[in-house]
Amino acid sequence: MRTLHTERMVLEPVDAKNARDLWGVLNAPDLRKYQDIPRVRAEEFERQVRARPKLMRANATGRFEWLLRAGTPLAPVGWISLRIGDRAPRIGEVGYSLIMEARSHGYASEALQAVIDEAFGEVELDEVQACIVPENVASRRVLDRTGFREERMLGGGAVIRGHHVDVLLFSVSRAEWSRARSAGASGVMHG
Ligand SMILES: CC(C)(COP(=O)(O)OP(=O)(O)OC[C@H]1O[C@@H](n2cnc3c(N)ncnc32)[C@H](O)[C@@H]1OP(=O)(O)O)[C@@H](O)C(=O)NCCC(=O)NCCS
Repeated sequence: MRTLHTERMVLEPVDAKNARDLWGVLNAPDLRKYQDIPRVRAEEFERQVRARPKLMRANATGRFEWLLRAGTPLAPVGWISLRIGDRAPRIGEVGYSLIMEARSHGYASEALQAVIDEAFGEVELDEVQACIVPENVASRRVLDRTGFREERMLGGGAVIRGHHVDVLLFSVSRAEWSRARSAGASGVMHG
């Protein structure tokens, strides 16, 4: 995995060095309403992070995650993840969150565009998906802005706080990304 730089942010691969920073973000208020975030102690979280795959390239599978840093000085504002399953290694699923103070600045959309570019450009995925609960309008706007299409409702498609809930599946294909890129929509720089 590599560090991604956007106009205003640094997307730092999550590893043992910054796992505690991410753990702090994960435990910020108002992140659990629309998604399931397991509550684990910092030491256990660090152990889980150490076990994750480190190389992100074609045919890699597992959970890849970046800590989002923004502002002056740069400080943790959220995270974004790309999960690639063993059963469909050409499809990735993104997830993202921002702490309250960092919302409504366009950071989530900016980070998501960078990860989509990485997923199609470097890992050569065919499709990137995202699932949201229908009432998560802020997240839907992020997906609309970054070129995702609504596909269908998945009945009981996620578990949030122990309950099965319906989720909307969104996706963007490599061809759609490529067309948008030719039209000049990408904003990521590598470093
Ligand atoms: C989902 C979530 C990340 C969306 O955050 P967000 O701040 O609304 O999204 P962005 O960071 O892309 O910001 C977009 C907003 O910033 C505004 N904005 C302000 N300044 C901006 C700038 N300089 N550039 C771009 N956008 C800017 C945009 O107009 C937009 O507002 P709008 O949605 O009202 O039109 C956030 O609500 C969150 O973390 N929620 C809790 C966790 C969660 O639900 N995660 C998703 C699970 S699927």
